[in-house]
Amino acid sequence: MSQKDVLILAIESSCDETAASVVKNGTIVMSNIISSQIDLHKEYGGVVPEIASRKHIEKINQVVLESLEEAGLELSQMDAIAVTYGPGLVGALLVGVSYAKAIAYASKKPLIGVHHIEGHICANYISEIQGAQSVHIDSTPKPPFACLVVSGGHTHLVHVKDYASYEILGKTRDDAAGEAFDKVARAIGLGYPGGPKIDALSKIGDENAIKFPKAKVNGSKYDFSFSGLKSSVLNYINSCEMKNETFQKEDLAASFQKAVVDVLVEHAMEASKAYGFKELVIAGGVASNSSLRKAFSKACEQEGMAFYCPPPILCTDNAAMIGAAAFHEYQNHNFADWNLNAVPSLKLGER
Ligand code: KG4
Ligand code: ZN
Repeated sequence: MSQKDVLILAIESSCDETAASVVKNGTIVMSNIISSQIDLHKEYGGVVPEIASRKHIEKINQVVLESLEEAGLELSQMDAIAVTYGPGLVGALLVGVSYAKAIAYASKKPLIGVHHIEGHICANYISEIQGAQSVHIDSTPKPPFACLVVSGGHTHLVHVKDYASYEILGKTRDDAAGEAFDKVARAIGLGYPGGPKIDALSKIGDENAIKFPKAKVNGSKYDFSFSGLKSSVLNYINSCEMKNETFQKEDLAASFQKAVVDVLVEHAMEASKAYGFKELVIAGGVASNSSLRKAFSKACEQEGMAFYCPPPILCTDNAAMIGAAAFHEYQNHNFADWNLNAVPSLKLGER
């Protein structure tokens, strides 16, 4: 290992995944441990905050120890400890923040607070995952570019001006894209989380079977709105039931998915053209959607732009992305003090 290598132990606990990772130089993932609580929350149809916090407390020590073991390194060899401190569920965030502060203090390492969305964006800078699920990525994006962050809690179109410098161009006015996927999936009995299930079912459906309306938002032209689309899907289901008519779930899933994908691609491409970006990047849980990836890849090819998306394992919540983001904060000597606290509604670009 070269003398200048920067090793960061990163922790993520903002929602329903307890995760820890060792990341070298912000690009090489030496370990990526994710303990998912999905099975626990499934029966409630969504994440139950109290259960999430309790489970994070139970798991965090084991997950961190495993991440160091898999990387073959000791805590003493780390250059910094990074942790997601917002946005997210306050109780869930507090578990990661308290744990990270405790080990950073005890081992006399600098502490870095990371914004969860910045983490999702920085997943795109990762070029290698080592270990059993080894992944090599040939090329990664370089700012400036537009990044569409689409997850269960967020839908943000971000101008990434530089490493660790962001401007929000547009965001959802109501539901996040992933939330819409989850709610529609629940309405047709697919269970939680719905995104991957709608993605799979859509493959055998006709995306032109049902015409759902495109959301119109007054004001900022890059903003999104998904609650109207969700309501029209629910109205369609209700009216079929009232008329005693059946509908094909796969056609409904594919038609709904197309409506979401179309608007996401349209806004991101419009912004990219207006700003003259040469690269387009996507991130977050919904970025693992196969139809969204295909649509962006095609649109970027047509416009002569490069398209980047992380491998699916780095799209959904993980700590490797937090380590990748923390590397740039480390370079900028942007360290947190012992007052670091969980900030459930932290804005991107705020400290
Ligand atoms: O990034 P993430 O793990 O957590 C948040 O920060 O919110 O995103 C989870 C969201 C869920 O809403 C899930 O349904 C959605 O990402 N998702 C997908 C797919 N995989 C996960 N949505 C559409 N298609 C997928 N393949
Ligand atoms: Zn996330």
